[in-house]
Amino acid sequence: MSTKSTVTTNPNQALWEKGDFTRIAATMRESGDALVGTLGISDGLEVLDLGSGDGTTAVPAAKRGAKVLGVDIASNLVEAGNARAAGLGLSNIRFQQGDASDLDGLDDDSFDLVVSIFGAMFAPRPFEVAKETVRVTRPGGRIVMGNWIPNDPTLVAQILKISSAYSPPPPAGFVSPMTWGVESEVIERFTSAGVPADQISFQRDTYTFSYAGSPSEFLAEFREYYGPTMNAYEAAAKDGREDDLHSELDTLFNSQNRTGTEETTSIPATYLRVTVVT
Ligand SMILES: C[S@@+](CC[C@H](N)C(=O)[O-])C[C@H]1O[C@@H](n2cnc3c(N)ncnc32)[C@H](O)[C@@H]1O
Repeated sequence: MSTKSTVTTNPNQALWEKGDFTRIAATMRESGDALVGTLGISDGLEVLDLGSGDGTTAVPAAKRGAKVLGVDIASNLVEAGNARAAGLGLSNIRFQQGDASDLDGLDDDSFDLVVSIFGAMFAPRPFEVAKETVRVTRPGGRIVMGNWIPNDPTLVAQILKISSAYSPPPPAGFVSPMTWGVESEVIERFTSAGVPADQISFQRDTYTFSYAGSPSEFLAEFREYYGPTMNAYEAAAKDGREDDLHSELDTLFNSQNRTGTEETTSIPATYLRVTVVT
């Protein structure tokens, strides 16, 4: 039986429950596994994956022996994560619903490693996210975030930039998720949560989207299943600009494809990797 919420008044939750992010996550598995391979995971490490989706990084961490909790605001993705874990026979991982900016129910100092790859960046209250992630990480532990970078020329930053040009202005007080891709903003958030600035470091890295179809078919997946893109198409349609949005995105997807053929898709995207030592 589906546990998908029928009505929600939380727009952050509604955005991610709107589509089916598992369709996009399926194209990100290799990079998720590669990233987790760099985290020095050892048996029994206590890991929290925030904005875990259906486990692109949480599952590889569990496969390497960590004890993993995935927390996500979207009930359908929590359900999908638990189904994947069960299908893989992993008993050292579970997913539960929660908000990265209010980790109510999770004790102070309870994780060795908090990972959030393109996850907590989408929570609306960034200072609360920093405070909560620091609170639940034990002293001497680590927080690792992956954040898309504003105005970066690669795929996701461009999808979000193009989409915003077709969407109504955000409500007053809205803080763009992309600000998590700006080093000075990240430093301000974690230092206000009590972390010295010299314990925060940055690195540019690449995530590759791999899809067994053409770039235009890959865009169709975003149009049908990725909440932010679904919303942009709806907003553009209301203004009679759906074809313009589609044409811009189609050009973007095709120009970024690196397979050298239109049959399959491989698109690298740059992100900011943030490491915080608590
Ligand atoms: C782009 S997806 C990334 C999912 C996953 N980390 C991955 O790499 O496949 C963003 C995820 O963040 C989750 N999310 C958004 N806002 C959140 C919040 N306030 N608290 C927890 N999760 C949130 C969404 O539901 C979604 O699963």
